[in-house]
Amino acid sequence: MRSHATTVTSRLVNASAPLLFFDSGVGGLSVLGPTRALLPAAPIVYVADSAAFPYGTRSEAEIAARVPALLGRLTERFRPRLAVIACNTASTIALPFVRAALDIPVVGTVPAIKPAAERSRSRVIGVLGTEATVRQPYVDDLAMRFAADCTVLRHGSAELVALAEAKLAGEAIDPAAIAAAVAPLTGRGMDVVVLACTHFPLLADELAEALPGVEQIDGGPGIARRIARLTEGQPWPEPPVGHIVLFTGAGPGPHMVEAFASYGLGDVRHV
Ligand code: DGL
Repeated sequence: MRSHATTVTSRLVNASAPLLFFDSGVGGLSVLGPTRALLPAAPIVYVADSAAFPYGTRSEAEIAARVPALLGRLTERFRPRLAVIACNTASTIALPFVRAALDIPVVGTVPAIKPAAERSRSRVIGVLGTEATVRQPYVDDLAMRFAADCTVLRHGSAELVALAEAKLAGEAIDPAAIAAAVAPLTGRGMDVVVLACTHFPLLADELAEALPGVEQIDGGPGIARRIARLTEGQPWPEPPVGHIVLFTGAGPGPHMVEAFASYGLGDVRHV
């Protein structure tokens, strides 16, 4: 039954149909990187909703209204084979609404609490995300199901999101700013931290310095494997086609354009 469904899907997918990556900013690159390593021939449309950045300080109502509508328009325009909401804030708030609105598979990014609980010896784990993500019932549910015997420290930081954007814009990052942003998580016995915002793996080195001895859990590689499984057997364009990067508001400066190019995305256009 399952292989029949896969065969039918594969036959229907147009080889040039892209994978649509969506985030408020550059955070989606932390999911795009491992995805491109597994699926180098996949055409990519990367959309940064810079007009509404940052998402993490917005209300649930704003995100729930904006994200499905925008993804609906993008799907009509680009006809992707699959959409990746490469943003924990949008996923933990709007994933069911996006799935209901689109007729393609939608992959979300939600805090990797389960692997964190499996790896923690101290039984104190951190969830480092945006302010909006860490207050979601979705996170309560994951903590209850997978980390019931752990103390789960939650911390939301808009500052770290801004620092990740600044790093990719070519600015020097002050280690003291990173240390101040994660200070509420220190001195509490935490040995594993979930990077529950896709921007934060872009600061992995800086976070390792600020949180020595704390293992970071990045959900990106697992999401990439899921995308590869969902597109298994599907055709890809031969020869590979170009990619598109779209910013809904303010566009990227020259350093950020280079950062996108270093992920193989050189063609930058505005919506
Ligand atoms: N990258 C996004 C996330 O994973 C949010 C960053 C923001 O816009 O606040 O939550």
